[in-house]
Amino acid sequence: MRVPSSLLYPVLSLTIFGLCPSMTIGPKEGWQVYSSAQDADGRCICTVVAPEQNLCSRDAKTKQLRQLLEKVQNMSQSIEVLNLRTQRDFQYVMKMENQMKGLRTKFRQVEDERKSMISKNYQELKDKMDELKPLIPVLEQYKIDAALISQFKEEIKNLSVVLTGIQEELGAYDYDELYQRVLRLDTRLRSCMGKLTCGKLMKITGPVTIKTSGTRFGAWMTDPLASTRNNRVWYMDSYTNSKIVREYKTMEDFVAGVVSRTYSLPYKWEGTNHIVYNGSLYYNKYQSNIIVKYNFDLGTVLIQRALEFAGFHNMYPYTWGGFSDIDVMADEMGLWVVYATNQNAGNVVISQIDPDSLQVLNTWNTEYSKRNAGESFMICGTLYITNSHFSGAKVYYAYSTKTSTYEYIDIPFHNQYFHISMLDYNARDRALYAWNNGHQVIFNVTLFHVIKTDDDS
Ligand SMILES: *[C@@H]1O[C@H](CO)[C@@H](O)[C@H](O)[C@H]1NC(C)=O
Ligand SMILES: *[C@@H]1O[C@H](CO)[C@@H](O)[C@H](O)[C@H]1NC(C)=O
Ligand SMILES: *[C@@H]1O[C@H](CO)[C@@H](O)[C@H](O)[C@H]1NC(C)=O
Ligand SMILES: *[C@@H]1O[C@H](CO)[C@@H](O)[C@H](O)[C@H]1NC(C)=O
Repeated sequence: MRVPSSLLYPVLSLTIFGLCPSMTIGPKEGWQVYSSAQDADGRCICTVVAPEQNLCSRDAKTKQLRQLLEKVQNMSQSIEVLNLRTQRDFQYVMKMENQMKGLRTKFRQVEDERKSMISKNYQELKDKMDELKPLIPVLEQYKIDAALISQFKEEIKNLSVVLTGIQEELGAYDYDELYQRVLRLDTRLRSCMGKLTCGKLMKITGPVTIKTSGTRFGAWMTDPLASTRNNRVWYMDSYTNSKIVREYKTMEDFVAGVVSRTYSLPYKWEGTNHIVYNGSLYYNKYQSNIIVKYNFDLGTVLIQRALEFAGFHNMYPYTWGGFSDIDVMADEMGLWVVYATNQNAGNVVISQIDPDSLQVLNTWNTEYSKRNAGESFMICGTLYITNSHFSGAKVYYAYSTKTSTYEYIDIPFHNQYFHISMLDYNARDRALYAWNNGHQVIFNVTLFHVIKTDDDS
């Protein structure tokens, strides 16, 4: 089978560079477009082009080739995601680098005029400079990361070109070698993504108000494990005496108020700290410390289990009350529940739980009083706690489950409507979803890759 490279190449390269392919390739040339979509910027989200089954199914090499193509295309999609995610962080780092350079220059000037300076000021400046010093290797690492991404892009492009060539002359290449090359690239890309996508919370920007609806207290969310094309929104107004969940097909539908489905849960919920994870809702059953897993597609409760020793029904709520004792959350590492126990003197307890059995896998006891926590959310295995639900609230405390250590931090965010009753991280969107006094808002987060971690995961 021969396919003119001019047909294949544009599709591949266009996918890689995020433009959209022309749709002029007809089935009679042996190719078909399986799926194609555009996002708001006119970008091609996913385009799979493969030889038509009946033409090539008996040609094993063509099949192998098709798989390679698919893999390369998968990789280019990952690269796009990675690129988008890191761009934001990178801009932040670049700005910091400039500030640092400015400070350096200033420091040198000051040093020159040292004699005329009051020595206290001089010492302060010097201390500040010393504080900033460890950032230099971090900044360097960022530059290397960015270079790595563009190198990946180039390698993927090269591979596509090779594959195009093969398409013209089937058999002229060593498939095994080619396959190994793709595998190696894939492995490296995966570890690179793992490294780049996790980090320490540095900054919270926004919010953007998505909608104004409901009572002062409630919850809304998307599923962090859903694909970006499936962006269903779930909405659970009120913190008590309710069991109605509204589902919207897209964020646009949510804004427009177009409900696609309504679920009536078998048990009422309590609080506002529910989560949708991999197609199921995990929530705290009314007047109990039971966690319920309800599957939306099946419309049934898959499992429910008591969280041992966990206080409930305003025994250990967040500062605003509202039966917010038990907070189910998810991050890059999986599913977590944050609560408090008598055994831990009402301080925050973190447990990682199995999404299927709801069994506790591991538990960490912190020394932060749950009743003094405004809200909390988990990012990359670190729990971040805010100090209030009112204006002026900031992220105040961070507990790393990796090292079982805590630190006090100071990351402000804009509590635009003065009362936050829900704040949850969504790893897919790298954003915080919040319910702010009857407004549904989203914050972006900037994560700093932790370069020198002891386990380097
Ligand atoms: C490409 O990604 C899709 C969806 O994630 C997956 O089903 C498929 O197996 C991947 N293909 C290859 C060759 O890795
Ligand atoms: C891609 O191909 C070009 C030209 O053949 C070559 O110079 C370059 O080193 C290749 N890049 C990678 C990352 O393999
Ligand atoms: C999500 O659910 C699917 C089946 O519905 C399962 O195969 C997959 O392992 C789940 N993923 C996680 C991370 O739990
Ligand atoms: C978050 O960042 C993305 C990409 O930079 C941007 O499109 C989006 O509007 C931001 N959202 C918020 C809530 O700031």
